Amino acid sequence: MRTVANMKYFWLILVIAVGAADSIVEKANLETANLTKGTKHYRMELLFKATFFQASMYCSRLGMELVSFNNLQEFDELKDFLVKTLPNARWSQFWTSGVAMGPLQFGWINTGLPITVTHKWEYLQPNNFFGLENCVEVKFHESINVMLMNDITCLALNYIVCQGYTL
Ligand SMILES: *[C@@H]1O[C@H](CO)[C@@H](O)[C@H](O)[C@H]1NC(C)=O
Repeated sequence: MRTVANMKYFWLILVIAVGAADSIVEKANLETANLTKGTKHYRMELLFKATFFQASMYCSRLGMELVSFNNLQEFDELKDFLVKTLPNARWSQFWTSGVAMGPLQFGWINTGLPITVTHKWEYLQPNNFFGLENCVEVKFHESINVMLMNDITCLALNYIVCQGYTL
C-alpha cells in the first residue's frame, strides 16, 4: 500500500535529518568506514543517528550485529579504529550490543555474556538512572583519544558500529 511505503521513507528521512543536524560526516569527511581485524569486521555508519532498536535492526539487515567487546583487546580495536577514522570529531556516541540485565547489571545482547571490561565505564557509570538507562553506548573524544562506556536511554540517537565475523 502506498501510504505504508511512504511511512517507511518518512522515518528514514527523519533519522537522516536528525543526524545531519549534528553532522560528523563533514568533520570526518566519511559516511561509512570499514575495518577487518582478525576474524572480525567492523562497519561504522556516520551518515545518520538512530535509536538502539533502529541501530540493531540496521546491523541485522546487513547480516551483522551491534559491536560488543569480549575482552580488552576488542575494546581497544574499536578505540583505535575511531582514533584513525575520526580525527576531527568531538564527543561522538555509538551504540553497542550492551543492555541492562538487572539493576546495575549489564550484558551483551548478542552473546548473552556479562560485560567484563568493567574498568571502561565512564566515571560514576553505569547508574541506570531512574531505571531508564537500559542500553550501552561508547563515547569517543578525539582530542584525548579516550573511549568509555555509558548507560543511556535506548531511545537516544547515536551513530552505529556493526560487527560481523569473517569465516
Ligand atoms: C564500507 O563497506 C560498505 C559495504 O561494503 C560500502 O558500501 C562502503 O562504501 C564502505 N566504506 C568505505 C569508506 O570504504
